[in-house]
Amino acid sequence: MPTIALVTGANRGLGFATAEALARTGASVIITGRDSASAQTAADQLAGQGLAVEALAMDVTSPADVRAAADAVAERHGRLDVLVNNAGILPEAASDGSNEFADIDAFRRTFETNVLGVANVTEHFLPLLRSSSAGRIVNISSTMGSLSDQSNPSSPYYGSVLPAYQASKAAVNSLTVGLSKQLSATGIKVTAVCPGWVQTGLAPGNRDNAPTSADEAAQVVVTAATLPADAPSGTFISAAGPVPW
Ligand SMILES: NC(=O)c1ccc[n+]([C@@H]2O[C@H](COP(=O)([O-])OP(=O)(O)OC[C@H]3O[C@@H](n4cnc5c(N)ncnc54)[C@H](OP(=O)(O)O)[C@@H]3O)[C@@H](O)[C@H]2O)c1
Repeated sequence: MPTIALVTGANRGLGFATAEALARTGASVIITGRDSASAQTAADQLAGQGLAVEALAMDVTSPADVRAAADAVAERHGRLDVLVNNAGILPEAASDGSNEFADIDAFRRTFETNVLGVANVTEHFLPLLRSSSAGRIVNISSTMGSLSDQSNPSSPYYGSVLPAYQASKAAVNSLTVGLSKQLSATGIKVTAVCPGWVQTGLAPGNRDNAPTSADEAAQVVVTAATLPADAPSGTFISAAGPVPW
């Protein structure tokens, strides 16, 4: 029986690379995206390489979309083994710098996608993950959300100030800890992952300046998605190892 994996925001960027990497491990991967045509195009590209993928439309900020997607997965597969909460945005990267501290509209949109989206998707897919013999939840976070790094003058992240994005990833980390405790009596493991600085469309300049390709970054996501049964739950990792909260 193949592993059934679902990746949010998998039509491009890290989500697409993760979907491909998971499919190459033999998993059957559900590529979700808020634009159904774009999700289908991504799935067609991987299916054309002989990989087991399918597409499903899901805007993580839409409770109706998420409910319908969970119903579709229940009907098609009856369970979910791996959930990768990848969809994320960084609208502050396009800010004109006119705010004293935070662009409140960008703040609201960031939290709707990066935090409420993770909670919404997790809530609706948990019954399917409970039907798995080895459920794994991977929340794509960022060292930008590490409170330790934000407050450590010797951290390379100390000088970065993107209040909405950083607070959203700190909240994702908190969801990871809370969820791992909630699920401690189950075999489901929850992991927050920093993929590094990755060549994607997340922010202007990423493609030209980031040192890590999406394919390389996807490897640590696969590590978290395939944790062995004796691995701890509720951790925060990057390719280099544990990340301080
Ligand atoms: N790139 C980095 O350096 C970096 C570093 C640390 C963490 N991360 C995290 O990695 C994750 C993936 O980002 P990325 O770098 O791959 O950026 P990206 O290339 O901009 O991809 C973001 C993906 O999220 C999707 N998305 C956005 N809002 C959505 C919504 N409401 N519902 C469903 N999907 C939605 C996008 O879909 P559309 O095509 O429809 O917009 C796209 O597929 C994010 O959580 C990001 O915070 C990235």
